[in-house]
Order: sequence, then C-alpha cells, then structure tokens
Amino acid sequence: MHLAPFIPAALLVAFPFAHAGVINARQAPAPVQNFTTIKSPSGATIRYKEPGKHGVCETTPGVNSYNPLTLWLNGGPGSDSLIGAFEEIGPCYVDEHLKTQKRAVSWSNSSNLLFLSQPVGTGFSYSSTKVGYLDPTYLDVSPAEAGEATGRYSIIDPTKLDTSKLAAVACWELLQGFYGALSQFDKQVASTDFSLWAESFGGHWGPAFASYFYEQNQKLTSTSPGRKLNFKSFGIGLKLINDTIYDHGKFNMYRDGGCQQAQDYCAYLTKDSIVKSSGCAAAQYICQNDVEDLYYTFGGNRGVYDIRACNGKDVPPAQWRDYLNQASVQQAIGTDLNYTSSNLIYTAFSLSGDFAVGYIDDLQELLGYDIQISLVYGDADYICNWQGGEDISTSAKAAFKDAGYTKLVVNGKEYGETRQYGKFSFTRVWESGHEVPYFQPEAAFAIFNRSQHGLDVATGKVSILENPSYSTKGTPNTVHSRQLPPLSCPASS
Ligand SMILES: *[C@@H]1O[C@H](CO)[C@@H](O)[C@H](O)[C@H]1NC(C)=O
Ligand SMILES: *[C@@H]1O[C@H](CO)[C@@H](O)[C@H](O)[C@H]1NC(C)=O
Ligand SMILES: *[C@@H]1O[C@H](CO)[C@@H](O)[C@H](O)[C@H]1NC(C)=O
Ligand SMILES: *[C@@H]1O[C@H](CO)[C@@H](O)[C@H](O)[C@H]1NC(C)=O
Ligand SMILES: *[C@@H]1O[C@H](CO)[C@@H](O)[C@H](O)[C@H]1NC(C)=O
Repeated sequence: MHLAPFIPAALLVAFPFAHAGVINARQAPAPVQNFTTIKSPSGATIRYKEPGKHGVCETTPGVNSYNPLTLWLNGGPGSDSLIGAFEEIGPCYVDEHLKTQKRAVSWSNSSNLLFLSQPVGTGFSYSSTKVGYLDPTYLDVSPAEAGEATGRYSIIDPTKLDTSKLAAVACWELLQGFYGALSQFDKQVASTDFSLWAESFGGHWGPAFASYFYEQNQKLTSTSPGRKLNFKSFGIGLKLINDTIYDHGKFNMYRDGGCQQAQDYCAYLTKDSIVKSSGCAAAQYICQNDVEDLYYTFGGNRGVYDIRACNGKDVPPAQWRDYLNQASVQQAIGTDLNYTSSNLIYTAFSLSGDFAVGYIDDLQELLGYDIQISLVYGDADYICNWQGGEDISTSAKAAFKDAGYTKLVVNGKEYGETRQYGKFSFTRVWESGHEVPYFQPEAAFAIFNRSQHGLDVATGKVSILENPSYSTKGTPNTVHSRQLPPLSCPASS
C-alpha cells in the first residue's frame, strides 16, 4: 500500500464536516462522496479515499509492505508538500495532457511517503472553508462578483500557527492521530521507523520538528519513532554576480546596523514576545533587502531556484496544480476544496520573525541523538545555496570539519561531493537547482535510501551503525567548478 500522495489531504479533514447543507455554488467543488471514516483511539477522525482506485496516480503492484514511513515537508511557509509529491519524489507526475505518469525514480520504492500540507490552510488543508472569489492581492475570500472565478477555499487564521515551533506541535498531534489509526487503515503497516525529509524552509521545519518530536518521544513509553532527518537551510554569501556586488553585499552583511548585527539581536531575544517578533522580522527585512536582494537587482533576472535558467523558468513544470483543480480529481482524492498554492501563511511567518530565528541549536541537539542527518544542496540553487549550507554544516560539529570531501557515487557515476562524519553529512549535488530530486533523481534517491539504511552517503557501502566514527577522506573544500553559461533573460515586468 502506498500512503502517497493523498493521505494528508484526508488527514487534515479531522474536523467537523463544516459545510454540510451549504448550497453548492456554481464552480465550487461538489461534496465528496463515498469516503471511508475511521477514528483513532485518541479520538481523531480520519476520512480518506484511495485515489489509485479511481485512476489517480496509479500505484505500482508490490510496493505494499514497506515498514518505514517518511514524512516529507516542503516549505515556504505556506508552500504545499504536494510540490514534493508531484515534482520530486512521489510515485507519479502530471504530464502536459493532465494525465498522471509513473515516475522513474520514486522514493516510494523504499518507504511509505506522507506528504503533509501544513501549517493548516496550506494546500488542501483547512479547518473551515468558504465559497467565493480568492483575491490575488489580499489572499482573502469574498463573495464572487460577475466574471470572477468561484471556488471553495480554506479560511486561514494566519497568526494562529505562525512559527516553526508552533507548527511542530500541530504536526506532532496530527502524526499521533495518524499512527493511532494506521492499523485500521492497513494491518500490514507496522510503522515505527520514521524519517523526516524537508526542503527549503524545511531548514526551519526540519530541526524545529525533529527536536520537538524527539522530546515528545522521550515522554512516550512506547517505542520511539525517531530515526532519520534531512533538511536544507537558508544561506547567504553566494559569490555569484561580480566582485563589486559581492563586496557590497559583504559590506551590508557586516556593517554597523547591518544584516549580521540584526540577526545577532534576533538570536539574543530568546523569550517569545512581540519584541522578539519585531526584532527578528526586522532582521529578515534587512538581510533580504541589503544582501539577498542584490542578486535580484543585479543578477540579470536569472532564477533564484536555478541560476542556470531565467527567472520563472527556474522551477519544474507545474501542470499538477491545474490537474488538482478538476472536479473528477477532487472527487477521487476526497476533497471539496480548490487547490491553492499561495496563501497568507508566508506573510504571517514574516511578521512573526520566524525567518530570522536560527535553528542551529536544534540541529546541534539532534546531532547528539541516534538520527542520521543528511544535508543536501543543489549547486545551482541561489535561494538555499550550498555555501550557506556548508557554513551551517561546519558550525555544527567539531570532528565534522576534519573530514574531507569525497565523491558521491551512484551506480558508478559521480553526482557530487560529500563530507561526512558519523551520522552527519553534507552533500553538494552538481548540476542541480533547488529541488534536488527533480534535477538529479538517482543521486537524491541514493542519499535518501542510504541514510535510511544507516549507510554512508557517498558510497552506500559502509555501515555507520557499525562504524560510528566513520569519516570521509579527501579535500578540505569542494573542488568541482564550472563556468556559469551566459544567459540573456528578459526583464521582469
Ligand atoms: C474550483 O474547482 C472546480 C471543479 O470542482 C472548477 O470548475 C473551478 O473552476 C475551480 N475554481 C477555480 C477558481 O479554480
Ligand atoms: C459513490 O458510490 C455509488 C454507489 O456505489 C455510486 O453510484 C457513485 O457513482 C459513487 N460516487 C462517486 C463520486 O464515485
Ligand atoms: C525499485 O528499485 C529497484 C532497484 O533499483 C528497481 O529494479 C525497481 O524497478 C524499482 N521499482 C519501482 C516500482 O520503481
Ligand atoms: C558589477 O556589476 C555591476 C552591476 O551590473 C556593475 O555596475 C559593476 O561595474 C560590475 N563590476 C565589475 C567589476 O565588473
Ligand atoms: C535501498 O538500500 C538498500 C540497502 O542498501 C538496498 O538493499 C535496496 O536495494 C535499496 N533500494 C533501492 C530501490 O535501490
């Protein structure tokens, strides 16, 4: 059985069916028919359908009995994890004719996958809904006027869950409900092995969630579901444009009252309060404007997710968003919501200051636990660039710095460079934009599968469990370099 990719949509429907009796307005999706309802011992209600039975993302025979469960989180925040399902690691993608096709390399080959739409309001998740017109500027829903497209959308309370720590608590509750009901869903899934892989803002979700889950695990008496974790993070300092701009960015970074000082002040504010929110939101604003934005201004309109492509062409195709907005698909996957990819949650996280809050302490804490941690960066990604990731990796653990870079090899082919000490690794994947599994599927799957099996990332041949002080040998820095090809991008409108 696949848990991928639609269980999360069903999962977050663990609330009263709020719109029963509402007249089905034109263009708003019809009520869901023929779903199954189960209740977990803790009282969570789970409604679900099995989309594969309705021709959506047909599951492959034989993938039914894997034990481990992997939770995948995209980030933005407010960016939905179905990005990962359809663009990166899920069992199918949507082609230009809006048909689902089997993905050649899917992570479902070695794990059950749970794609969670969170914080609530993201993707198909909701606590209450409203029919109307979704205003593209204010992202609120108002009664549709003539000519305006109608849909059903989640009513978002943006300040309810506006930090990674709060999101972690909600996610833990949800997983408990899910695990509690799992045996009713499929007796064969005896999942206690648990992995968390996150991307992008996952640099915050990853450490914040994993450390919270770990602490909660300790409070449970049953077996611990904590195992492996991978996350990416936000970094700055890409020497990308030219030395003038780089030096300018560096000056802004370290000048009096600049980005670094603002971040230090945010880090100094430990008590959750409006003072902290305001200080950290200011740090995000200063750093983005003074340092990160130089690329947008002087980068010749290259993409932020893939510097090899123009802005707008730097992300994988996204037909799946239109696919999900069809009545037949909504019915098959068990939702009566229209699919949205942007929402107020990003804004709420900006105002809460969560972007500037550092999660290195949580990472440090995780390194002390029995968890395999793999950091993975595409080397053509600006927004989460590998230099920033490397800085995070070397700040985390002393012995790690002494390990050298070695080649990441999969089926005889070199895909990147890895530094690893014990359970902790950092990999720079070559020729990859932001969504590494999309650009380099074999390499990304190998990193995932090796980490999951407790093997070294670079070769998959050394058991880390048997060699806890395993250390890669090689160069102190990554050596791969490649000239960025010239590219003429149209100015953005
Ligand atoms: C919402 O979904 C329905 C299908 O149920 C579709 O006809 C409608 O166009 C969608 N609305 C928007 C705004 O995308
Ligand atoms: C629900 O089940 C009934 C009875 O089997 C069937 O007639 C109906 O078409 C189903 N509805 C959907 C949307 O699948
Ligand atoms: C799973 O991986 C194995 C080994 O690489 C491969 O032979 C098989 O075709 C894959 N199965 C699916 C469903 O992708
Ligand atoms: C770097 O790029 C900026 C913006 O295009 C330009 O003004 C400056 O002269 C360039 N500096 C060098 C050393 O090429
Ligand atoms: C995942 O790794 C395990 C352990 O090395 C291996 O047995 C299995 O074939 C791998 N799965 C795939 C699909 O390659």
